[in-house]
Amino acid sequence: MTSLTQLPVWDALKDERAAWKKIHLRNLFAKDSDRFARFSVALDDELLLDYSKNLIRPQTLKLLLKLAQERELEAAREAMFSGAAFNLTEGRAVLHTALRAPLDADIRVDGQPIIADIHTVLARMRHFVDRVRTGKWKGYNGKPITDVVNIGIGGSDLGPAMACLALKPYGGNIRAHFVSNVDPSQMVDTLEDLNPATTLFIIASKTFTTQETLLNAQAARVWFLDTAKDPSHIAKHFVAVSTNAQAVSAFGIDTDHMFGFWDWIGGRYSLWSAIGLPIALYIGMDAFAEMLAGGHDMDSHFRTAPLSENMPVLMALIGLWHSNFWDAPVHAVLPYEQRLARFPAYLQQLDMESNGKGVTRAGKPVTYTTGPALLGEPGTNGQHAFYQLIHQGTGLIPCDFLAGRESHNDINGQHAVLLSNFLAQTEALMRGKTAAEAQVELAAAGRSSREIKALTPHKVFPGNRPSNAILYRRLTPRTLGRLIALYEHKVFVQGVLWDVNSFDQWGVELGKQLAQIILPELHGGTPGAHDSSTLGLIAKITQKD
Ligand code: F6P
Repeated sequence: MTSLTQLPVWDALKDERAAWKKIHLRNLFAKDSDRFARFSVALDDELLLDYSKNLIRPQTLKLLLKLAQERELEAAREAMFSGAAFNLTEGRAVLHTALRAPLDADIRVDGQPIIADIHTVLARMRHFVDRVRTGKWKGYNGKPITDVVNIGIGGSDLGPAMACLALKPYGGNIRAHFVSNVDPSQMVDTLEDLNPATTLFIIASKTFTTQETLLNAQAARVWFLDTAKDPSHIAKHFVAVSTNAQAVSAFGIDTDHMFGFWDWIGGRYSLWSAIGLPIALYIGMDAFAEMLAGGHDMDSHFRTAPLSENMPVLMALIGLWHSNFWDAPVHAVLPYEQRLARFPAYLQQLDMESNGKGVTRAGKPVTYTTGPALLGEPGTNGQHAFYQLIHQGTGLIPCDFLAGRESHNDINGQHAVLLSNFLAQTEALMRGKTAAEAQVELAAAGRSSREIKALTPHKVFPGNRPSNAILYRRLTPRTLGRLIALYEHKVFVQGVLWDVNSFDQWGVELGKQLAQIILPELHGGTPGAHDSSTLGLIAKITQKD
């Protein structure tokens, strides 16, 4: 495949970037009253993407769409949806989209149909979820389950934890807790108020080999047996979600109490599978099915909408434009929805583990920037913390602002206040404030001409700072499903454009290997051949007094 930077359209994009030295978004808006209509796209009345406040004009988009065509995006998209071994370093299909496909879809892996298997697991989940939620599933002393603790990390934690918080209004009588960190403090704090007789543990691990999860699962078992005593009670309080039945059984969980999934589901794409069990227990299986339906809505849109009207494609192209041509190494995701507080953290794994790659699919070093770093916090909190850098810092940080038109809790008119801030931030970033405007303001505030001169540079906002606005009606399970799938496909498209494998994660291995070597050294073993920094830190940690 021709290297990205060798394509003629790449040079044309460089020229386009140069032209932007003389362009300011506030002028583009002033000249074109249709800019919002031109640069926004809706998926029915429930979801709108306004991308008009980005550093684009019609010819920019034309070139970016040409780039997508030259990278054969449509063929890659079809390959993923149809089950080709798109994850080429692991020889696996990439079929999280199949998890939310309808029963009559015909999707195959190595020629074998997979939809019936997916729906068999969904039916088992439904049976189990219904029993737990209605109190028919009893703990060892006959009491119903009140609390579910999911023990998992990365993709086996972030998605379910994010979704349970996001969908709190749909929560029932089961409380959901999440323990991921090998730092035992998280487990201790979680178990503090729980009763072993009414607690259900889900041990969630695709591989069932992850050190943190297995250690935490052992700690949970010890805590449980401390009260329950009889190991036969474990069957009523521990279930597993994994692709590795052998390891689940070796751990002591009956595989009758295991919910399976498949190696063609990447960990960070797995919340749609049985990894979503804590979500289903929390919001019920019907609401979980709605979330899957939302994911499928976005799949259909991504698969069928023309590239020029395709939300994930547009977000991906504009993201690439800012990363590669405007040197923006960071991207902010700013939900004006407190319950999406964990969405940025979830997206960090989705995006950074997927596209944080330095070689092409063919194993050659890439010569351009790939995945940006992601940061984010809910608005308005972030405004009082890190937005300063976004408004007046020296670098460009493109932002996605997300908000619901409706709130689940509108008290005291505060939702309108939230939305006014959401809108004001995108406008301020786009417009900025000129020196003349700052001076008028200072004069109106009664400042002397000396003060005006001194303060003006500090009061100027450059503007021309790009953002997307993603506006949904209300944060329902279906909307959440759509939002997650929107970002999944954005990440996919960028991976195709950058020619990286978005579905492996070899970069997490080295640290794990070194930790295995260091652990015995912390227990008194002779330190090995480390650098002086690592040796110095080991000596300090193992110091006796
Ligand atoms: O170490 C990274 C990783 O492999 C992630 O990709 C994955 O989501 C996480 O660890 C947890 O893996 P598992 O579900 O197999 O425990």
